[in-house]
Amino acid sequence: MRAFALDDFGQRGSIHDLPDPEPAENEVRVRVTAASINPFDNAVLQGYLKGRMEHRFPLVPCGDLAGTVDALGSGVEGVAIGDSVFGVTGKMVLGEGTLAELATASTSTIAKRPAAVSEVEAAALPLAGVSALMSVEAVAPRPNDLVVIVGASGGIGSYAVQLAAATGARVIGVTSKGKTEYVKGLGAHEVIDRTSGDVIEALKAQHPDGVAAIIDTASDAAGLARLSEAVRKGGTVTSMKGAAAVEELAKRDIKGVNVATQVTSERLDHLARLAAEGKLKAPHIQTFSLERASEAFQLIVQDTHLGKVVVRI
Ligand SMILES: NC(=O)c1ccc[n+]([C@@H]2O[C@H](COP(=O)([O-])OP(=O)(O)OC[C@H]3O[C@@H](n4cnc5c(N)ncnc54)[C@H](OP(=O)(O)O)[C@@H]3O)[C@@H](O)[C@H]2O)c1
Repeated sequence: MRAFALDDFGQRGSIHDLPDPEPAENEVRVRVTAASINPFDNAVLQGYLKGRMEHRFPLVPCGDLAGTVDALGSGVEGVAIGDSVFGVTGKMVLGEGTLAELATASTSTIAKRPAAVSEVEAAALPLAGVSALMSVEAVAPRPNDLVVIVGASGGIGSYAVQLAAATGARVIGVTSKGKTEYVKGLGAHEVIDRTSGDVIEALKAQHPDGVAAIIDTASDAAGLARLSEAVRKGGTVTSMKGAAAVEELAKRDIKGVNVATQVTSERLDHLARLAAEGKLKAPHIQTFSLERASEAFQLIVQDTHLGKVVVRI
């Protein structure tokens, strides 16, 4: 099979001809049509997870996929050859990824793709969509609650703004210059441009009684501690980067949650249903061919993308 792979950390990566993978027990093999890139995948290529997880070379990156099942491992039930699916590979080793014509995935981390959701849209959804869903569920906003979303234009943020707004909360999106209209289009009621002033000062000025929650996908611990000053007693602060100081926040009667995303078939089914019903729009998606996958990674590195970056296989 053709795949985009690296022979060592830090390389740009190139097209390789690799043996077709075989599905293990409770796995299916998918003929991949689209795969999305997440910041985690870039961290893998740079070698940031060296020593923390097993890597296999030539290393094929990425975990999100959409495609068609073309082979079944032993013990597989409920999935058939020819099914259109999307999800993540669900692997504990790195390198057997989805920037390839074929990839194997656990049946517990994929779901059927509804016809109303395109393969590119489905490939964008898994890790970012489930992260957004788990963040919004951790906050459990009530109608009219003020919910701040930091990183609102990014992969997770693009879904989180919509999911939070759908609860009846009033969403305040934090983004950078040039992306404010996009975030409003997702359903944010207010937008703060973090590049034109101090976010915490803007929040305090506009909402002196405090906000109910912050869903943060971008800040480090110091940045999030400062932003959390805007959260009122009884509120919630979530972080995708392990930046929520849970014990410190508890002293102010604020719930801190460091979200550890777990993609499951149930969560994927839920998101797919919302998308098929038109209740969850696809984010802005920029697509690349497999040959141009290294350019796609550059967008993530430079943080110049909007929404999601998807590679068509
Ligand atoms: N814990 C887990 O299990 C888990 C799972 C999935 C992802 N993650 C992590 O979650 C993070 C977000 O993922 P993603 O896919 O949404 O990434 P993304 O698409 O790169 O979006 C993040 C957005 O944050 C904004 N941003 C960048 N630096 C910022 C800063 N200093 N302050 C405020 N905003 C900033 C940028 O948008 P603007 O320029 O518009 O502000 C950027 O697009 C990544 O670090 C990823 O590794 C963790």
